[in-house]
Amino acid sequence: MSRIAVIPGDGIGPEVIAEALRLLELLRGKGRSFSWDVFPFSAETFLRDGRAMPLEALGQLAGYDAILLGAFGDPRIPDMAHGREVVLGLRQGLDLYVNMRPVRLLLPELTPLKRGGASEIDFVVLRENTEGLYAHAGGFLHRGTRNETALQTSVDTRFGIERFLRYAFALAAARPIAKLTLVDKHNALRFSGDLWYRTFLEVASAFSSVSAEHRFIDAACAELVLNPGHFSVIAADNLFGDILGDLGAALAGGLGFAPSANINPETGKGMFEPIHGSAPDIAGRGIANPCAALLACAMMVEHLGDKEAAMAIEKAVRKSLAEGALTRDAGGTLSTSEMGKAVMARMDIP
Ligand SMILES: NC(=O)c1ccc[n+]([C@@H]2O[C@H](COP(=O)([O-])OP(=O)(O)OC[C@H]3O[C@@H](n4cnc5c(N)ncnc54)[C@H](O)[C@@H]3O)[C@@H](O)[C@H]2O)c1
Repeated sequence: MSRIAVIPGDGIGPEVIAEALRLLELLRGKGRSFSWDVFPFSAETFLRDGRAMPLEALGQLAGYDAILLGAFGDPRIPDMAHGREVVLGLRQGLDLYVNMRPVRLLLPELTPLKRGGASEIDFVVLRENTEGLYAHAGGFLHRGTRNETALQTSVDTRFGIERFLRYAFALAAARPIAKLTLVDKHNALRFSGDLWYRTFLEVASAFSSVSAEHRFIDAACAELVLNPGHFSVIAADNLFGDILGDLGAALAGGLGFAPSANINPETGKGMFEPIHGSAPDIAGRGIANPCAALLACAMMVEHLGDKEAAMAIEKAVRKSLAEGALTRDAGGTLSTSEMGKAVMARMDIP
């Protein structure tokens, strides 16, 4: 029995997670043994209690086999303190050092690229998930005065980069095209970038079956748009990986189709979430695309050992899209729950 902790969060988070839970219910009806508990950590709990989640929650969540998360973000908390507490808190607290964002074009018409064919866009963005500029190292001097100074320090450790790159190379080695592209900016970032690049060269030498190459972030962004078929596995630090993940999502139809996993390959812990935020502009209207959440669910069940169910979910999403079931962000008219139902009706699983 796999135990899942579900954190719907804010905005469209609960709307898309409701569809993911219906999907888990369907799988349970097919004999899969999942149980889940819902944790109501959100902007509401933060505004009420001064914390989005209680101090003991990290230990509690560590006891689950996987975490399924919706999204965080609320206009009433502009600095996103509550979202950082939960999302970054779990990524760092559970040492989920690999963030994985598969980018696959599920329907050719969804890409904004004129020349994008379905077979061309199939790569994975891997992002170091616990260090870099998101490590929360820095501070203010003379805050609120005309001399105010902000320091935001990138924390990049040899240990953190090496374990991340080893995972990235191993993943690349197992893909049909065994190629890894390191994306950094070591020509300008002469300390952190230099450490990344030197570590990359060293780890690459241990993976002779993988073709290893390097791109600077600016050139990589341009090449991704011009020739996305070039890439198989892209590895980057926390900030560049974050940006490349959204660029990849846009190439493959938008945030509504982009799932992600945060994992620790050694402990087996994992947190799965759509890459989109809480989308306050459409929250509460029942029109959010649930596909990213459903595909995050697929990544989660695969991580829990059920590859058959994961493939069935992705196939059902592809089939729904091919048969014209689309939400508004993808040019259709379906509501969140109608889209969820369309996918579930096409689940072909024994
Ligand atoms: N992991 C997270 O929880 C996470 C990630 C990104 C942003 N955020 C937060 O979310 C809030 C909103 O941020 P943002 O507007 O920059 O990003 P966003 O991803 O919430 O929305 C960007 C745009 O994409 C659309 N969109 C996103 N997901 C969609 C879906 N499933 N279906 C249809 N349309 C969708 C939105 O309507 C919006 O126009 C902010 O508070 C931000 O900090 C949280």
